[in-house]
Amino acid sequence: SSSAIILGLESSCDETAAALVATDRRILAQRIAGQEEAHRPFGGVVPEIAARAHVEVLAPLISQVMNEAGMQLDQVDAIAATAGPGLIGGVMVGLVTGKALSLATGKPLIAINHLEGHALSPRLVEPELGFPYLLLLASGGHCQLLAVDGVGCYRRLATTIDDAAGEAFDKVAKILGLGFPGGPAVERAARQGDSRAVAFPRPLVGSGEPHFSFAGLKSAVLRAAEAGAHGREDLAASFQQAVVDCLIDRTRLALEAMPEATALVVAGGVASNQAIRTALGALADAQGLPFIAPPGWLCTDNAAMIAWAGAERFGLGLMGEADVAARARWPL
Ligand code: KG4
Ligand code: ZN
Repeated sequence: SSSAIILGLESSCDETAAALVATDRRILAQRIAGQEEAHRPFGGVVPEIAARAHVEVLAPLISQVMNEAGMQLDQVDAIAATAGPGLIGGVMVGLVTGKALSLATGKPLIAINHLEGHALSPRLVEPELGFPYLLLLASGGHCQLLAVDGVGCYRRLATTIDDAAGEAFDKVAKILGLGFPGGPAVERAARQGDSRAVAFPRPLVGSGEPHFSFAGLKSAVLRAAEAGAHGREDLAASFQQAVVDCLIDRTRLALEAMPEATALVVAGGVASNQAIRTALGALADAQGLPFIAPPGWLCTDNAAMIAWAGAERFGLGLMGEADVAARARWPL
């Protein structure tokens, strides 16, 4: 076929991943190696442990996806690697590997912003999704509302002034002794609890201010947990409901600021939360917009979204500089 094939590499946090994706949206192969066991004793991601694990597993993962697709490295058309933002040691592992493969094969390297990977990922599985759309990007490191006007054209309408939404889930999981990673654990506990049990604050809700804030909510959960009057299921459910209300209120405000949006889209690890998906779907419905939520495996960190961002850029000739440096911070 005439479609191009992109090898994607992701190593910016605690997931090592490789994937082969074609510009016609076929996912030829993908592998993800999580590091949860290595970080669990510390209750969070330890950057040095993460970087070492990426070094150990990335090359074998690449061999596995090549074998699974029955391809040789010189048959790929480009290599897309996350160049930031993220934990710098891990980002360097994936980016340097991508550069080495690019030099060895003579195929171009496309440096991808991890946030762009999340932002464009819904288009990998939803061919109908065109521009512009409003994206709620909620992960462990970010909580943003982005106007996605095209490939490489992003306007940030809102961000968090303190914690990211996923970070709040992770910290609350720690407070409640629910373990790591926190998001799925809080969601499971919340299913057994009463979301009206505790009236937690909804920071900034109802204000004309576009941004997010979760630090005060997290502190309120800490105080309630220490007071000991409620079980952790009720605390988890009440916390999750407060997050839902914050996300919905801010997203509604952003939709008002972006009347040209053709869809409401959610991405990032927090987008795998069912309560959040349901509430966003209802908001989109009320506004007469389609709601697009990628499947859970595409919401959390993966290499298919990096390969796809590479495919979008490859198709448009927007490949950028090959000689880029790894960046811990890199706003979209
Ligand atoms: O996008 P992602 O895999 O990595 C980052 O780029 O940060 O997101 C991970 C974050 C973590 O904070 C995790 O607790 C959160 O997403 N998360 C969830 C759920 N699954 C993952 N938060 C709430 N509910 C979930 N089901
Ligand atoms: Zn991510």
